[in-house]
This record gives sequence, C-alpha cells and structure tokens, in this order.
Amino acid sequence: MQKSCIILAAGDGTRMKSSKPKVLMEVAFEPMIDWVMNAVIETEVIRKNIAVIYSAESVRSHIEKKYPRVNTFAQTERKGTGHAVMQAESFLQERGGDVLVLCGDAPFIDTETINESYELHKAHANTVTVITADVDAPFGYGRIIRHGDTVTGIVEEKDCTDEQRALTEVNSGAYWFNAEALLKALPRLTTANQNGEYYLTDTVKLLQNDAGAYKSTHSEITQGANDRRGLRALNDIAFRANIDRHSDNGVDVIGECYIARNVTIGQDTTILPGTVIRDNVTIGKNCTVGPFAHLRPNTRLADGVKVGDFVEVKNANIGEKTSIAHLTYVGDSDIGKGVNFGCGCVTVNYDGVNKARTVVEDNAFIGCNTNLIAPVRVGENAMTAAGSTVNKDVPAGALAVERAELRMRDSFKLNIQRKYKKK
Ligand code: UD1
Ligand code: MG
Repeated sequence: MQKSCIILAAGDGTRMKSSKPKVLMEVAFEPMIDWVMNAVIETEVIRKNIAVIYSAESVRSHIEKKYPRVNTFAQTERKGTGHAVMQAESFLQERGGDVLVLCGDAPFIDTETINESYELHKAHANTVTVITADVDAPFGYGRIIRHGDTVTGIVEEKDCTDEQRALTEVNSGAYWFNAEALLKALPRLTTANQNGEYYLTDTVKLLQNDAGAYKSTHSEITQGANDRRGLRALNDIAFRANIDRHSDNGVDVIGECYIARNVTIGQDTTILPGTVIRDNVTIGKNCTVGPFAHLRPNTRLADGVKVGDFVEVKNANIGEKTSIAHLTYVGDSDIGKGVNFGCGCVTVNYDGVNKARTVVEDNAFIGCNTNLIAPVRVGENAMTAAGSTVNKDVPAGALAVERAELRMRDSFKLNIQRKYKKK
C-alpha cells in the first residue's frame, strides 16, 4: 500500500526568541528539519510522497532547494497541529494509503522507529498508531491515555488532570494514520482546549476503536526543542552520539570535539581537543586532526594526513601523508600526496567576487607564510620559499621565490635609540 509522510514545520517557535523559524535551527550543525527529512528519505517513502507544512518562506525555499521533489503547503494562520495537517488535505486525498505524520522540531526520529511502527500499524490493522516512549521528564508533552493496548486519547500538558500529569508515557508527535480515516477525523476537531487550537492529538480519541501505540525504547526520539535550553540539550545528545559512533569504529576522540552527523572517519585516526568537523567530511585512516582544527564541508583527507593546530580546511581534497601542521587555511583546493605545508600558509581562494581553486601536486613543499593566489598550480616536487606570494603556476621541480631583498643598516645603534625614547 502507498506510504506518504507529512512533516509539520509551521510552528513559530516563539520560545526560541529568534528571527529564524524553529525547524531551521541547527542541531550538530544541521537544521532540525534536515534530520527529520533524512530519517524519512531512508525509509521507503518516496520524495514525491512527502509534504512539508510551512509558514516561513525561508522554510519553503530551504525545502525546495534541497529536496526538489518534496511538496510544500502553506499554513498561513497557526491554529495548531490539527490545522497544520488540514492544509495538506488534497495531498492526503490523492495519496490515500498510510501516512506518517512527523514534527519538524523532533530531530531524533529514526528510520528503524518509522519502519517498526509501520509493521505494528499494519499487523494490528490500526487506523492510527502513535509513536510513544516512557520519559523521565514528561513535562510539556502530551500524555498517552491507554486501555490496555488501545490508546483512548492524548492529553496535552495544559489540559492534564493531576493524575494524568503523573503519567510518563508521552506522545512523540509522530504517528502512522490511515489517510482515509484521518481525512474523516480532521473536520471533527474543535478548539475546545486550553490553547484554543485544533490539536492533531484529538484525532486519536475520535479513532480510538482502532488506535494503538508503538512504544519506543529510545526516549530521545521524543525529544524536541521548544527553547534554547532545549536546543542545547539536543546538541549535547547529538554530538555525544556522533562521537560514540566514531569511537565504536576505532577512532580516538580526545576531549571536547564537535562532529556533525554526516562524517566518516577511518580507523586509528586521532581527533584532538577543540576540533570542529562539519557536515560531509571524510577522513582516512591513521590521520591526526587538531587540536583546534576546523574541517568545513566537503573536505576529504586521505590516509595518514596530519592537520594540526589552528588549521582550517574547506572544500578540499588532501592526499595521502600530506602535512598541514600549523596555522594554515586550505580552501577550494586539490592537494596531492606527501605535500608539506609550513606554518602560516594561505590559499587565497576569494577575490571578493569569485572563488578559485588551488592545486598542489605530489611531494611539493610550501614554505612558511606562503600565499597561493588561486587559480594557481604548484607542480610535483616544486617548492615555494618562505614568505612568498605566488600568483603564477610553479613548474614541477622549480623553486618559487618572491621576496624583497634583505638589507642591513650598519649604523642603526638600537641601544642609543632606546635611551632617547625613555626620556
Ligand atoms: C506536540 C503534541 C504533543 C507532543 C509533542 C511532541 C499536539 C497538540 N501536541 O506538542 O502531544 O507530545 O508535540 O513534541 O500536537 N506546528 C505547525 N503548525 C501549527 C502548530 C505547530 O506546523 O499551527 C508544528 C511545529 O512546527 C512543530 C510541530 O507542529 O514541528 C509540533 O508543534 P509544537 O507547537 O512544538 O507542539 P508541542 O507543544 O511540542
Ligand atoms: Mg514541540
């Protein structure tokens, strides 16, 4: 049967106190909506069967740019999660089948949870399956009201009785619905609650004859961020999980490092304190990175590369056993094998209008404080002298020296000058 997905991303996120919409706020350097999108894309739901409900133009353009085949529906007035789903009624009618509804502000929903909850949804022939978890701090979440295996309702924090508030099984904000049943339930929603909103959660009460729950054992799948403290907590969880994954793969991560989700690191590589590794970076085996290195998107380090302190690498390929040991910027570059960068080198990649690439071939030696003005190529086994600004290609094996003559003034008499200065 057809599977589709609706992602709710129109909330205004007032409590974040930001000019940015909440779902574009970042967890481990990645907008929350991208985490959710990624989990869905890894399932069998195809992109043309995904709909995102937005209110901010920036959310719409982010989705259209990054996920061109995904549908977008505007929610011009924010009247609650039920009202958000109503904006996609035409989509639900066309797609039919089963629809997964997700919150754009709960980034840790994962493919396994989505797939397993779908199995349960089908096996029990439910019209709605709520994805839930037991949590230590249920404050702020909707509580699950059960009668055995049947879910009879979801009560929001503000609408809870004291007894309901003590329940620890909460609504993750993710559900599988039978699309037809959902379409029938939506018009029956009312705003008779503390917030005066159309709650999607009220559909569960309306569909309770066939409403079930998939209780996940990973409580973090429910975790959302409503304010900056919540966002910080999500970042802590995400960075920790990313580092744990690398540790399990044989990588040493020492001290505080910040590694994005989409990063590959080879065995026996060491990442030293203060290092930041952004999205889409690949690091080979037996490398050393840090302390205080910054690897920005689209960086590839081959095996045995050394990237030392205060080195930034961006959109660059670095060949085997190349060393960029101190205080250097390498951006938009293709660097060969066995290259040595001295201290304080810069690939000058930007002229204020365009970015250009730097190529350094195998075994070249870039002297300290060299500026490589791109586009430029340094040939195999070539060398640049310390302090040179190189704006022409350097042939293989050549030495490029750009340096004013060093002059000596014999009668300088430093001590006499100092003496007069003091007076
Ligand atoms: C919601 C659930 C709650 C659940 C929690 C999980 C409801 C009524 N409550 O509460 O049971 O435990 O999520 O995180 O559904 N949104 C829109 N349009 C709107 C309002 C919200 O698109 O008019 C989107 C938001 O961008 C967000 C999602 O819906 O991604 C959830 O909205 P939010 O306001 O965060 O609801 P919670 O109070 O967290
Ligand atoms: Mg929320």
